[in-house]
Amino acid sequence: MAFLSRRSLIATGLSFATAGGVGYALWPRMDGVREEVDRQRRLLSADPGLEELVRMATLAPNGHNTQPWRFQLGERTVAILPDVRRRTPVVDPDDHHLFVSLGCATENLVIAAAALGHGSEVVIGAGAEPPIEIALTPARPGRQELYEAIPLRQSTRSLYDGQPVSTGDLALLEAAAREDRVSVRLLTGRAERAALLDFVVAANSAQMDDPAFVEELTGWIRFSPASALETGDGLFAPCSGSPALPDWLGHRLFPRVFRKAAENDKHRDQIRSSAGLAVFVAEQADPAHWIRVGRSFERFALQAAVLGIRTAHVNQPVEVPALRTEFARWLGTPGARPDLVVRFGRAPAMPMSLRRPVSAVLA
Ligand SMILES: Cc1cc2nc3c(=O)[nH]c(=O)nc-3n(C[C@H](O)[C@H](O)[C@H](O)COP(=O)(O)O)c2cc1C
Repeated sequence: MAFLSRRSLIATGLSFATAGGVGYALWPRMDGVREEVDRQRRLLSADPGLEELVRMATLAPNGHNTQPWRFQLGERTVAILPDVRRRTPVVDPDDHHLFVSLGCATENLVIAAAALGHGSEVVIGAGAEPPIEIALTPARPGRQELYEAIPLRQSTRSLYDGQPVSTGDLALLEAAAREDRVSVRLLTGRAERAALLDFVVAANSAQMDDPAFVEELTGWIRFSPASALETGDGLFAPCSGSPALPDWLGHRLFPRVFRKAAENDKHRDQIRSSAGLAVFVAEQADPAHWIRVGRSFERFALQAAVLGIRTAHVNQPVEVPALRTEFARWLGTPGARPDLVVRFGRAPAMPMSLRRPVSAVLA
C-alpha cells in the first residue's frame, strides 16, 4: 500500500491558500475526530468487563484499517473471528493481512487483560478461517508498560529523524517480538537497507500500475473528517500526512496526485530516514502462522512505542507475489513466505486513526 503524500498534492498546483482555506472550513470536524480518538483511546477502568477489553483489541493495527474482525463474548471467554466482508482481495488475495490483523488484536486483548489481572489461554482453531478462542483466568496483574502503549501506538507514515536506534533498544525490540515459529530480522546496515528499498520501489511500481489495486485502496481512503467519523474505519488522509479535504475534492484530486514516481520518491525518503527495517517470516504460510506473526509484530510495535520509536509498514515486497519469491531468496529463506516489512525510527506523532464502536464488532 502506498498513500497520498502532501508533497505530491502540492505539486499538482493546489495552492497552500486553497488547502488552508479548505482546512479552515473543516476545522470543527477535525476537533470532532480528535475528541472521538481520545474517547476511543482512554485506558481501562479497574474492573472493565469484556466489552472494554474488546475496545483495546480494536486499537490494533490492521490492513487498510478495515478492522476485519468480529468478537464473540462468553462468560469469561472472547472469540475473535474474521469478518470476511471486510477483505481486501486485491492487495491481500489469500487473507494473509486479515489474519495478521486478527493476531494483532489478539495480542492487544491478552496484554490489556494481563495488566488488569487476567491470564489468557489462546487457542487457534482449525480450518481455513480459524477462530481465535481466548479464555481468561484470574492472575496477578502483569506488565503495565506494553498495555499503556496500546493507545499510543500508531502507524507513523512520515519522515523519521535519520538517527540510529541503540543496540540496547534493538535488543528490547527483538525480545518483545519473540514468538514460536516466527523469526524477525532487523536490518540496520546501509547496504541491506538500500537493497530492501529496491524491492519496495519495484513492488510499489507494480502496484501503482495495477488499476484494481489503486481502486481498492481509494475505496478505503477517508478524505474528510465527516466520512472518517461516519464510518469509523479506513485511511483518514491526515494520518498519512495529507490535508483533510471535502470528499468530492479528495476523489477528484487523488487520481491526479497519486503517481508512481512521487510515491516511489516518498518511499525512498521515508526508508532512508529510518533507523532500520524489521522483516517478519513465519515457518509456514497458513492462517494460524499469520496470527502468530500478528502477535509478534504487535509486541514489537508496542515495545517500540514504549521506547519512543515509531513504526510503519512498507509491505510492498511481500504483497506482490512475483517479487515476494525473489525477496525470500534475498533474505536467505528461499521457499518461505516473508510476512511483514516494517520500518522504524524516531519522529513526532501523526494524527491517530479511528475505530468503529465496540457495538459494531460484536458477533
Ligand atoms: C497486516 C498489515 C498490513 C499493513 N500494510 C500496510 C502498508 O503496506 N502500508 C501502510 O502504510 N500501512 C500498512 N498497515 C498499517 C495499517 O494501515 C494501519 O494499522 C491502520 O490504518 C490503522 O492505523 P494505526 O496503525 O495507526 O492504528 C498494515 C497493517 C497491518 C496489520
